[in-house]
Amino acid sequence: MKSEKRKIAIIGAGKIGATLAMRVAENDLADVLLLDVKENLAHGVVLDLKDNLSILGCPQRVNYAIDYLELAGADIVVITAGFSRKPDMSREDLLGKNEEVIREITLKIKRYIPNAIIIVVTNPLDIMTYLVYKISGFSRPKVMGMSGVLDAGRFGGLIADELKVSAQNIQAMVMGMHSDLMLPLPKYSTAYGVSIRRILDRERVEQLLKKTRKRGAEIVSYLACSAHYAPSAAVFLMLKAICNNEKRVLPVSVYLEGEYNLSNVCLGVPVKIGGKGIEEIVELELDKEEKKILQESAKKAKEGIRKLGIYSKRKI
Ligand code: 2OP
Repeated sequence: MKSEKRKIAIIGAGKIGATLAMRVAENDLADVLLLDVKENLAHGVVLDLKDNLSILGCPQRVNYAIDYLELAGADIVVITAGFSRKPDMSREDLLGKNEEVIREITLKIKRYIPNAIIIVVTNPLDIMTYLVYKISGFSRPKVMGMSGVLDAGRFGGLIADELKVSAQNIQAMVMGMHSDLMLPLPKYSTAYGVSIRRILDRERVEQLLKKTRKRGAEIVSYLACSAHYAPSAAVFLMLKAICNNEKRVLPVSVYLEGEYNLSNVCLGVPVKIGGKGIEEIVELELDKEEKKILQESAKKAKEGIRKLGIYSKRKI
């Protein structure tokens, strides 16, 4: 399908949803419909966005919706709704508060937009992605969570700062849970094609890993709410990969069925993204220590999943 025919629905007009709507509209990627339980919020944001687009001379492909019926036919739905964490909270602390919100939204998507691809942004990310996957009943290629693109983007930015080179020279990879247990992979992270392990000593790499894991919490400590510029930029890359059928490999949270020796859990792994969603899961070779961290991520994610009380025939 041609990009100009694409329609993207964004649920949640908070900071991530609003900034994402702006990015999509300014780049003329697709028609955007913004929906929020607070109708005035979506309405107000859209008026502001339209003024913004008109000043910049961009097409006005953004509107708000008050009902899920209006979202029918959307190709992609991005769920940004839910509570954001406060200082001293982990992403997992949001499970109880966000579970109901995500359940309700997913049931409406299932009913009114059954053919859409869903991108989950709400935390705790991997657990909410699992919830959406199970409740929607959508096929695996059509449900993904935004995590690794953000974490790898942060890791890449920190590597670029450390080496004093353009971030465009960096390719970074982060797998695993979108939590303190994330798995940044120095051996698959390169600067101008060279593994950073060959450029930076172990201690500097360790420092960068630590900063990457803590970056989200560091931002929360200053803002008293979650980041939104980088998360919206990360979702935008995923949307572009789908709308333009890019076949780009990006790390996203996806339901695993044996890949990396893991199953019945959603975790961040590299996947090829094209027009129909996830086209392939890329299996990188991991060493013993990396596999152990990934297993710990899976264990932690499953602890959260068990709290959801979703019936599963398979032992998790
Ligand atoms: C972060 O800033 C939103 O979880 C998100 O890491």
